[in-house]
This record gives sequence, C-alpha cells and structure tokens, in this order.
Amino acid sequence: MSSKQSVLSASGIVAGYTSRPSINGVSVELSKGAPALGITGASGVGKTTLANVLYGQLKPAAGRVTFDGAAVSKLRLGAKKRFQTTVRKVGQNGFFGLDGESTVRRVVEDDLKAARKAGRASGESVEQILDTMFLEPRFLDRRLRTLSGGERQRLTLALALSTRPEILILDEPTTALDPTLKDKVSARLRDLIAEREIGLLVFSHDLDLLARLCAQVHVLAEGTFVETGTPRDLLVSPQHPATRDIAEAYPEAVRALRAVQE
Ligand SMILES: Nc1ncnc2c1ncn2[C@@H]1O[C@H](COP(=O)(O)OP(=O)(O)OP(=O)(O)O)[C@@H](O)[C@H]1O
Ligand SMILES: [Mg+2]
Repeated sequence: MSSKQSVLSASGIVAGYTSRPSINGVSVELSKGAPALGITGASGVGKTTLANVLYGQLKPAAGRVTFDGAAVSKLRLGAKKRFQTTVRKVGQNGFFGLDGESTVRRVVEDDLKAARKAGRASGESVEQILDTMFLEPRFLDRRLRTLSGGERQRLTLALALSTRPEILILDEPTTALDPTLKDKVSARLRDLIAEREIGLLVFSHDLDLLARLCAQVHVLAEGTFVETGTPRDLLVSPQHPATRDIAEAYPEAVRALRAVQE
C-alpha cells in the first residue's frame, strides 16, 4: 500500500549496446501529478533504450535509477511488487513477457489480482478495464496471439492502467492505431492522466501525439537532450537541427500553429 507519493528518478544515465552508448548522460524524474513529459528523437536515437533503463529492464553503464530512493535493479519482493504495479511501462514491442496462448480475460484478471495484492485495486471489472481502451467484451476469450497490432496496443495500455499506476511510461503507444483510434486513445489517455494525476512519460517520434499529451518535450540526439520546450515551441521555432528535422514532418501542424500566432 502506498500513501506517500512515488518518485522514479534517473540520473547521469549512460546506456547502449556498443562502446558508443546511445544514451550519454541523461537525467529524468517522474512523479505522480507532475506535468506530462515527452521525449522525442529520430529512429534509432535511443528512446527505447532509455525507456528500458528507466524500467529496470536494461542495466545502464553508468548512472542511477531509483524508485522512492531505492535502486530499481535491487528491489526485492514487496518493494518490487509495489514498483511493478505503481510504475507501469507499455513497450514498443507488444506483449513482451506475456504468453500468446493466454486469453485477454486471463491477463486482465492477473493484473487486477496483482493490483488487489498491492492495495491498488480500482474496483473495476475486466469489461470496464477493456472499455477504457475501446475494446469490446467480445475480445474476452480471444488468445493474445490472435489479436491485431492495434488491438494488442490497446490491450497493453488497458493492462497498464488497470493497476492504477502513479507513473506511466509509454514507448510509441499509438504507432499501430489508425487515425480515428489514435484520436480516441490519446483523448482518453489525456483525460485519465489528468483525472488520476498520473505522472506520464511518452517516448515517441510523433510530435503530434506528444502535443496532445505532454506539457514539455525533450529532444534526444547524440546521446543527450539537445533541446527542451513545449510541443508548440518545438514545432514552430525549433532551434537544434535535430528538432528541425522532426518538426519538418508536421508541416500542417506548423502552419496551423503559425496562423494562430499571427
Ligand atoms: N538488443 C540490441 N542489441 C544491439 N543493439 C541494439 C539493441 N537494441 C537496440 N539497439 C541499437 O541501439 C540504438 C538505439 O535503439 P533504440 O531502440 O533505443 O532506438 P529508438 O530511438 O527507440 O528507435 P525507434 O524510434 O526506431 O523505436 C539503435 O542503433 C539500435 O539499433
Ligand atoms: Mg523505440
């Protein structure tokens, strides 16, 4: 049970897969109720690498990741269970760690059980959890391996929300969704994040998505944050070449924002 506010903190992170680390001296702090943060950058720049370090799935070469002051890599038993329900991450690659033969009902029930054990039960039914991400009850008896990419993406988001996390880390959460679903899912996420005061961190190359969800965005390039601003600032007046490259992908958004400004 958590009465105090949880803080996930990463400082001085150096991480990567070769002698030239993708992430080279980055710090981030997340806590319940903090303004939503985005991290953008070109493909292959190290977004997923940093997300994995933050969630304790990849050991950094240097730096520290702590949850309420304790090293995330060394959490034991109760503290680890609390971390896994209080901080949730939705990875870029679907059902990492989940059995494709499991049914939708089973994996939602498992998470609701974990939530109850950790004192984070929401009282919601399996159907209500699915409904948060626009999945109908007809999905309940489907095996995970039979779901489409977009259905998987929505299920993993619904699962992450089911334990009432205080901190939520999303890695490219809407890449498999069509534009209509992207609108619905991002609006629902925005509402739930505000209502439940979830500390949100979104990794995405999609500045349009970050503009919908995040108050501030860091631009990752050459291993560090080269620019930080509101999504609007980054789109309308990008300073760093890496930011300019990303903003160029959204000419319509930039035109619309400029028109409002004039
Ligand atoms: N398991 C791995 N082994 C070796 N290299 C890896 C591994 N995972 C990622 N990399 C490399 O590390 C770098 C950073 O990868 P990462 O997945 O963090 O990028 P990203 O910013 O998330 O990209 P994308 O936008 O395409 O998801 C890339 O050059 C990638 O090829
Ligand atoms: Mg990635």
